[in-house]
Amino acid sequence: MKKRVAVIGAGPSGLAQLRAFQSAKVKGADIPEIVCFEKQANWGGLWNYSWRTGLDEYGEPVHNSMYRYLWSNGPKEGLEFADYSFEEHFGKQIASYPPRAVLLDYIEGRVKKAGVRDWIRFSTPVRFVRYDDKAGTFTITAHDLKNDRMYDEVFDHVIVASGHFSTPNVPEFPGFANFGGRILHAHDFRDALEFKDKDILLVGTSYSAEDIGSQCWKYGAKSITVSHRTAAMGYNWPENWQEVPLLERVEGTTAFFKDGTSKKVDAIILCTGYKHHFPFLPDSLRLKTANRLATADLYKGVAWINNTKLFYLGMQDQWFTFNMFDAQAWWVRDAIMGRIAIPTDKAVLAKDVADRIAHEDAGKDAHDAIHYQGDYVKELIAETDYPSFDVDGACEAFFEWKDHKVEGIMTFRDHAYKSVITGTMAPIHHTPWKDALEDSMESYLKN
Ligand SMILES: Cc1cc2nc3c(=O)[nH]c(=O)nc-3n(C[C@H](O)[C@H](O)[C@H](O)COP(=O)(O)OP(=O)(O)OC[C@H]3O[C@@H](n4cnc5c(N)ncnc54)[C@H](O)[C@@H]3O)c2cc1C
Ligand SMILES: NC(=O)c1ccc[n+]([C@@H]2O[C@H](COP(=O)([O-])OP(=O)(O)OC[C@H]3O[C@@H](n4cnc5c(N)ncnc54)[C@H](OP(=O)(O)O)[C@@H]3O)[C@@H](O)[C@H]2O)c1
Repeated sequence: MKKRVAVIGAGPSGLAQLRAFQSAKVKGADIPEIVCFEKQANWGGLWNYSWRTGLDEYGEPVHNSMYRYLWSNGPKEGLEFADYSFEEHFGKQIASYPPRAVLLDYIEGRVKKAGVRDWIRFSTPVRFVRYDDKAGTFTITAHDLKNDRMYDEVFDHVIVASGHFSTPNVPEFPGFANFGGRILHAHDFRDALEFKDKDILLVGTSYSAEDIGSQCWKYGAKSITVSHRTAAMGYNWPENWQEVPLLERVEGTTAFFKDGTSKKVDAIILCTGYKHHFPFLPDSLRLKTANRLATADLYKGVAWINNTKLFYLGMQDQWFTFNMFDAQAWWVRDAIMGRIAIPTDKAVLAKDVADRIAHEDAGKDAHDAIHYQGDYVKELIAETDYPSFDVDGACEAFFEWKDHKVEGIMTFRDHAYKSVITGTMAPIHHTPWKDALEDSMESYLKN
């Protein structure tokens, strides 16, 4: 009997897993039977953009957290697949900060070529996973939404690739119930034009705040105020942009901050991050971790230390994305296929986790964090046949990117970097980011 493997989610992580198994099959290996459950009607995960917010047509929480005019926030040279370059996909080198439609096309290109679409059951959320100690197998309860039918199936391994940037962390501030404007979380932000000519307040100082604020500025918001809990972002912002301490309360449409200042605003966008959320897993299988580079309870960042037949992909906070998911997926494939042995002693597994946490904690700054995650990618790919690539070169692209943001927060996307896969330099994009209001794939590829 062939082993059966369930993959939950067909976003970049889940698709990396399908490609990993398919690439072993092409080389002649006898691979397990793979079933991928995907709750959305299409693949791509967060990159499968939807205009919907709240619940979808079946009453399921909408997974999408992306917005209309989103462009990559880091250089594409940091995330390129080692087995499928941008040049292979587009037939030429393209500029370094593609809009989301361009990145979705790239993600899809590799898996279309691999021919794995029929391994995926679309519109089928996993409702629950149980582990049977005696049989040593998992039973998955899935919901075929189109036919409104729930069913159980048994698997030898489960790989959770359901993402962790979809369930919003939504704090409440005094006065919200009576606020005279709109309050939303970044998860529900879609179109910057909604905020044209408006005064907006953002709470939070990470990527969502920086990027949603920048986008609203680009599409004509009247003013942007960003409120911080720990520290201001401190970039050289445009003149209609201010940074203020934490929001204390709102009265009517006036927001009051910790330093006693206040500002009248039309809308409040909570850019306050996301929660790891696995409503389909029991306590005994459920990862509980902060959003950090060294997660809790995952050996090598992927194998659940309380039951190493269960794996998680992409649960780390992310500098590296697509190529890190690949490194993880190839490693998990080889663990399942018996090419890599996972220790059986729980103390050894727990020590691996503790060492990773201590190593991350010893880092001083973002520079160390990028190196830390780059070293993790190197560690995993050294143990599999994933094509080795210049991870240090990808780190360099990230360091340049950080410098370019300090030089000009509204111009960093106008820079270009060298591919660590093909060695080619990206072209400078034909239009500065701030002027490129039309950002379709067709227009982006006109270089
Ligand atoms: C606003 C935003 C912008 C981002 N921009 C960038 C960027 O520019 N560059 C970059 O590299 N990264 C970016 N990221 C990071 C992003 O996390 C990764 O690029 C990538 O999408 C993660 O892939 P994933 O497969 O792990 O998770 P996801 O993309 O979240 O995919 C998870 C999949 O699992 C499915 N799923 C969930 N629950 C179930 C269930 N119970 N049953 C079945 N299926 C389920 C979902 O429908 C989804 O398809 C961004 C993230 C956000 C939130
Ligand atoms: N264009 C793009 O590519 C793009 C755009 C947006 C997001 N993203 C991606 O999306 C992911 C998530 O980013 P994110 O910015 O949403 O989340 P995040 O990185 O987890 O940051 C959360 C922010 O919310 C703040 N916060 C949390 N709780 C708060 C509270 N109670 N009160 C005040 N502030 C609070 C945190 O402040 P403290 O610092 O005080 O903890 C932090 O600044 C990242 O991987 C990012 O790369 C990408």
